Amino acid sequence: MIGKYEIERVESGIPGFDDLIQGGFPKGTTVLVTGPTGSGKTTFAVQFVYKGAEMYNEPGVIVTLEERAQDLRREMKAFGWDLEEYEKKRMIAIVDGVSAVVGIPSEEPFVLEGNINAEDFLRYIYRVVKSINAKRLVIDSIPSIAFRLREESRIREVLLQLNTILLEIGVTSILTTEAPDPSRGRISKYCVEEYIARGVVLLDFVEKGVELKRYLLIRKMRETKHSMKKYPFEITEEGIVVYPSGEVY
Ligand SMILES: Nc1ncnc2c1ncn2[C@@H]1O[C@H](COP(=O)(O)OP(=O)(O)OP(=O)(O)O)[C@@H](O)[C@H]1O
Ligand SMILES: [Mg+2]
Repeated sequence: MIGKYEIERVESGIPGFDDLIQGGFPKGTTVLVTGPTGSGKTTFAVQFVYKGAEMYNEPGVIVTLEERAQDLRREMKAFGWDLEEYEKKRMIAIVDGVSAVVGIPSEEPFVLEGNINAEDFLRYIYRVVKSINAKRLVIDSIPSIAFRLREESRIREVLLQLNTILLEIGVTSILTTEAPDPSRGRISKYCVEEYIARGVVLLDFVEKGVELKRYLLIRKMRETKHSMKKYPFEITEEGIVVYPSGEVY
C-alpha cells in the first residue's frame, strides 16, 4: 500500500513470542520485562541479546548488575548459549556492574567502577553500545541501578535520562525490574519504569493444583496490536519457549 507506515520489527529470538506482537518489538523501543523472583527475567533478556547475535547478526550489550559477568556466562551455558564466543567476535559485550561494588578485582573488558554517579553510568553504557555498534541492549536490573547509585531518590530522573539516551541511540532495549505484586497491579518497583517503557511484558506464575505454572502477559506494546491474554511459557534446556495457542487457567 502506498504511503502506509510500516513499523520495523526486531525479532526477539524467543520461540512463540513474536507471534504475539506482530512479528517483533518495534525497532528502537524500550521494553520492560517485569516479574517476581525466578520468573525468568534474566533468561528472557539474555536470550534476546544472544539470539540477536546468533540468528540475526545484530550486536548486543548486556549490562549485568545482579550477577558478575562470569557467573552469567556460566549460567547461560546451561541453555547452550556460549556468550564468550560472541564476545570474542565483538558481537556481544557484557558490562560487569557487580565486581567493583562487592570489591572483587575484575579482569573483564567492560567494568563499571564502584563509585560512579548517574551521569557516568549513562555515559559508560552509551560508550559501550557505540563501541560495538549494538542494536540490542539489556540492563538487568533497574532496582540494582538504584541500589548501585546509592541515590535511590534520583531513580526517576535517571530513568528518564536513560530513556532519552536509548531513544536517541536507537537501540532496542530490555530493562528488567521487580514486580512486587502483579496480581494487585503492582508490576514495577518504582512505578516510573512502566511509564517510560514503550512496552511491558510480565512474567509470572499461576497455581495449578500443587504446581506453579509460568505465564506471560503483554501489558503494553506501543505501535502493536496484541492481546491481553495470559500465555503459558516454559524455561527449557534451550531457553524460553512461549505457547501462543496454549491456555492458562
Ligand atoms: N537450565 C535450565 N533449564 C530449565 N530451567 C532453568 C534452567 N536454569 C534456570 N531455570 C529456571 O529459571 C529460573 C531462573 O530464571 P531467571 O534467573 O531468568 O529468573 P529471574 O526472574 O531473572 O530471577 P531473579 O529475580 O532471581 O533475578 C530458575 O529458578 C529455574 O526455574
Ligand atoms: Mg534475574
